[in-house]
Amino acid sequence: MSSQNTTSVIILAAGQGTRMKSEMPKVLHCVAGRPMLGYAMLLARHVATKNVAVVVGHGSDKLRTYLQKEAVQFEPYLVVEQTEQLGTGHAVQQAYPALTAGSSALASQYVIMCGDTPLLTTETISALVGYHQTERATLTLLTTHLPDPSGYGRVLREAEGTVCRVVEDRDASPEEKKVSEINVGTYVVEAQFLETALGKLSPQNAQGEYYLTDIIEMAVKDKQKVMAWVTKDSLETTGVNNRVHLALAEKEMRRRICERLLLDGVTILDPDRVVVDHQVTVGRDSVLHPGVVLEGQTQVGECCTIRANSRLTNSVVHRGVTIQDACVLQEATVEDEAVIGPMAHLRPGTVIHRKAKVGNFVELKKTEVGEGSKVNHLSYLGDTWIGRNVNVGAGTITCNYDGYQKAQTVIEDNVFIGSDVQLIAPVTIGKGALIAAGTTVTDNVPADALGISRVSQITKEGTAARRRALLDSSVLPTNGQSGQVEDRPSATPVIQEEQKSS
Ligand code: UD1
Ligand code: CA
Repeated sequence: MSSQNTTSVIILAAGQGTRMKSEMPKVLHCVAGRPMLGYAMLLARHVATKNVAVVVGHGSDKLRTYLQKEAVQFEPYLVVEQTEQLGTGHAVQQAYPALTAGSSALASQYVIMCGDTPLLTTETISALVGYHQTERATLTLLTTHLPDPSGYGRVLREAEGTVCRVVEDRDASPEEKKVSEINVGTYVVEAQFLETALGKLSPQNAQGEYYLTDIIEMAVKDKQKVMAWVTKDSLETTGVNNRVHLALAEKEMRRRICERLLLDGVTILDPDRVVVDHQVTVGRDSVLHPGVVLEGQTQVGECCTIRANSRLTNSVVHRGVTIQDACVLQEATVEDEAVIGPMAHLRPGTVIHRKAKVGNFVELKKTEVGEGSKVNHLSYLGDTWIGRNVNVGAGTITCNYDGYQKAQTVIEDNVFIGSDVQLIAPVTIGKGALIAAGTTVTDNVPADALGISRVSQITKEGTAARRRALLDSSVLPTNGQSGQVEDRPSATPVIQEEQKSS
């Protein structure tokens, strides 16, 4: 054995996962943003020197789609269909011939694992395989001791300690149910023995299923060496069968991610209250406040501060950026030292260049904000390109959609846009131009020009006072009843009369 060992892996993922009560196949449920099947695939790739086979059945189209999407990480692998889910033994019976079809692919040993054990670590699986090899065992199973072993197969041992078999929870006697050592569902099996054992499986049990676990007893009866690698970290071995288990796995995975970030030099004020997906990166000396959610492929650089309740999805944040409270960033890029928020929404295709500022209640979509430019208050800008050192006044809105198609707005360097301006796209504001507050821009404004469109103001001396007097004189002694308001004369005629006479 020793150095000649070659390893193939079989991942069992055909079950429906009835107890998840879900439309989605169980192994596609995510833990820290990655489907459980993904964790199994990465673990498999870690130990496999030969091919990996994934047994699929329920929702197999969805599983295949996911595997294809992530193929770069998972290859080489093959997908084996188990059309009827007749048990874990039956699943391996389908995979084995597929893996041995090409003689060049023959492995000397097989690692078999379940797709629903996302917390298993590469350290543990390597330890299991290493132990199997040094013990020169025929079959080695991974086990652990649980305070509440219910639901799992129990590992039964002889008086002197050797493993004799695994009994399923539903087939176990009350005495056997008291055993706290459980079968994790991860095994290393010698190829020759596996092939013979698979041929002998039969569905003689409470479920009428082909149990893979039966091969353990077969090996013992055949005088083969059966070993168990007992792992102390029992949380790691959690098999996710329902959403209580899923929540547990999620919590543990997030704890691990936060621990990794903390050790890498990220400050997290309350690790229990941030949600960071497995692929996210955060640079050192960055600070994450409570309620921060970093999803998907998000990358945060060094020395950034992300304040409470901000969510970043598939976004890239460079160095020294401040994201104030309650911002949402989706597929956005923010360059060095920019300041975002509070309460800003950067939608896909948004790029904020160095030292730019995007402030309160601003929504940007497919919009580029140039270096040092500011969009600080209450704006919507869509399909917009903004140059350097531009000031966009409060309440400015691009009218980028005419009901049929989107159009572009261009605001060149050093433009000053006053408050409450509407830009009817397509429109270009030339360098250094000035747009007066309240303007509706319908035509291009050339460089250094003033654009203004306003109704000229009318001022009526004394009108406010006369209106007040009229209304005051008509108010009856108040007794707090609202019905009297309707008896008042309207002051509107006074104002209209004065306008006519102007
Ligand atoms: C299985 C083990 C049990 C162990 C537990 C650990 C058996 C008989 N029992 O029980 O000893 O303690 O895992 O979590 O093996 N699957 C298929 N095809 C099938 C049936 C299942 O691919 O026909 C897949 C499922 O998708 C799942 C895995 O095998 O990923 C385990 O199946 P599950 O039904 O969860 O087995 P358990 O009852 O948990
Ligand atoms: Ca299970």
